[in-house]
Amino acid sequence: MSTRESILALFEEHKGVFFSGEEIAAKLSVSRAAVWKAVNSLRKDGYEITAVSNKGYCLSAETDILSAQGIRKYLIPLCGFLNLNVLPEVESTNGLLREWADAGKPEGSVVIANLQTKGRGRFGRSFHSPADTGIYLSILLRPEQAEPTQASKITTIAAVAACEAVELVSNRRAQIKWVNDIYLDDRKISGILTEASVSMETGSVEYVILGIGMNIYVPEEGFPEEIRESAGAIFDKKQNDGKNHLAAEFLNRFLSIYQGIKREDYVEEYRRRSLVVGREIIIFSPKGERKAVATGVDEDCHLLVQYEDGSTDRLSSGEIHV
Ligand code: BTN
Repeated sequence: MSTRESILALFEEHKGVFFSGEEIAAKLSVSRAAVWKAVNSLRKDGYEITAVSNKGYCLSAETDILSAQGIRKYLIPLCGFLNLNVLPEVESTNGLLREWADAGKPEGSVVIANLQTKGRGRFGRSFHSPADTGIYLSILLRPEQAEPTQASKITTIAAVAACEAVELVSNRRAQIKWVNDIYLDDRKISGILTEASVSMETGSVEYVILGIGMNIYVPEEGFPEEIRESAGAIFDKKQNDGKNHLAAEFLNRFLSIYQGIKREDYVEEYRRRSLVVGREIIIFSPKGERKAVATGVDEDCHLLVQYEDGSTDRLSSGEIHV
């Protein structure tokens, strides 16, 4: 770890606490000049660090900047193996992680960005990913069971984990709009894009990239016209540590379920959180639109529907409107 990273870890662990330059220098075995340089570099990146004579330096408790150090302090031991890479700007965290996966990076490699310039959504759409107001996170998984259905199971687990994490930090009830959009008060606050690499020879899954985007705050300029009616944010005002805490809680919950340590009943939780069951929906398919009622979610998280003519169906993927 560089001096800058070590100082950030110390400040993040003890927000609002003063440390003298001398104390920090001794703790990290570096010169006071190196401490001063690192503090200035953090300030340049927006960290509010107060300096008071006879007391030293202190990171403001209100700081809400994504960092590996800020996330790590909330992670449970199970997540200790994660390799967190927090970057100021990328085209797409899924895209970058795909390159890393092809180059052989291991399971647990994570890319988190403060801004995506070409954030990708489902069905080839873009995902609005402005700076400072969201979390754009991708994690590389190399599942042992390599059937292609594994990818949709991972998506489902992520949806449950995202709801639980959002609820924990916001105290608001989070729901899932099938397949994998997360809603608060009927507004989409998070979307998930799972991409799998399947071997042409064996048909088995080589790796899965799970990507999730979360709207933490409403962007200053508002959401773009095309999603203004449907998009929402998790918080309506700045939170101390809102982004780092939420990113960590998502990883904690996701990995606990994924590694089978916490619960096998995530399908039940997925059902309980359904925004659509019992409601009239419109199903979009290449053949056109069709009205139906969502009647349930089965063991594979497929949506059970009944059409107006009384016939029924089981949808494995697709797009619906409520
Ligand atoms: C959707 O709602 O259609 C899915 C959106 C998924 C967005 C996330 S943000 C992190 C990761 N990187 C991407 O380019 N996309 C996913």
